[in-house]
Amino acid sequence: MILVTGATGNVGRNLVRELADAGEEVRALTREPATAGLSDGVDVVEGDLTRPATLPAALQGVDRVFLFPVHGPGALDGFLAAAEQAGVRHIVLLSSDSVTFSEPGWIGEQHLACERAVAGSAMSWAFVRPSLFMANDLGWARQIRRGAAVRGVYGDGGMAPVDERDIAAVAAHALTPSAGKTYELTGPQTLSQVDRVRIIGETLGVDTRFEEVPRGDVRRELLHRLPAPAADFLLDQLAASRTKPVQALPTVEKVTGRPARTYAQWVAHHAAAFGAEQGLPRGAASY
Ligand SMILES: NC(=O)c1ccc[n+]([C@@H]2O[C@H](COP(=O)([O-])OP(=O)(O)OC[C@H]3O[C@@H](n4cnc5c(N)ncnc54)[C@H](OP(=O)(O)O)[C@@H]3O)[C@@H](O)[C@H]2O)c1
Repeated sequence: MILVTGATGNVGRNLVRELADAGEEVRALTREPATAGLSDGVDVVEGDLTRPATLPAALQGVDRVFLFPVHGPGALDGFLAAAEQAGVRHIVLLSSDSVTFSEPGWIGEQHLACERAVAGSAMSWAFVRPSLFMANDLGWARQIRRGAAVRGVYGDGGMAPVDERDIAAVAAHALTPSAGKTYELTGPQTLSQVDRVRIIGETLGVDTRFEEVPRGDVRRELLHRLPAPAADFLLDQLAASRTKPVQALPTVEKVTGRPARTYAQWVAHHAAAFGAEQGLPRGAASY
């Protein structure tokens, strides 16, 4: 039995589907089963990674775990002790490519702490270290639906965003205990925000454009959902990508045997979120 934590998140939700489709026995952990919206047939259990008393029932009969990286000092310790106690053999941790940077920054340090905690356990492990998620761009959906420009900073910086379905596919592979240790992965192309907004327009047949605004405006927005050091780290990464664009890695194709999904494929998959309510425009490819 595989326990997927973070099962309602961008990666976990896709992983639950991928494993269930492959015929694996899957259990999904959430703090809010009533609103989890996971497919019928998936065993959904209530639990909180930071409250070990909620975990023994969720871990019963589990031999492998996909672990969501809850941040904070010692945040995973209770879960790891409960998992060892329950007889779990292998943990796949969702991490971040920032752990590989010469300056991992605040976000990288949080992930490094999670990696150290998992590596210090008696269980075998693998770390999945994705680059920027394409899913972040769903944050543009409201502006695009309103017909407004997408406002951002360092619009010409090159990142290599990855589709959350591909992160899930690599995680599914990493759940095989002999599969390997660390997986750094990106999407298949280096793309700027200007490129991505253009691709959304072309793919969905909507009129949209990128508008450069001051860093401080974007920082203020980010502070609604991130601590200041995380917001500053993300903005610094974006600034650096103007002179040193992020290069695409072949990991997804090497691991899955098929090409990583393109940004246009990701946009088509999320057409409804961007306001293409009736699906894609006539003649558009569907993925
Ligand atoms: N976005 C990026 O560009 C990017 C790039 C690299 C790495 N990452 C890393 O990826 C992670 C985000 O992954 P995601 O986007 O798939 O997640 P997400 O969509 O942000 O969802 C968060 C998930 O974590 C679960 N969760 C949070 N706290 C929990 C707790 N105390 N106990 C149990 N479950 C808990 C939530 O479950 P319930 O609410 O259902 O309980 C939910 O399923 C972050 O660590 C981030 O640093 C992100």
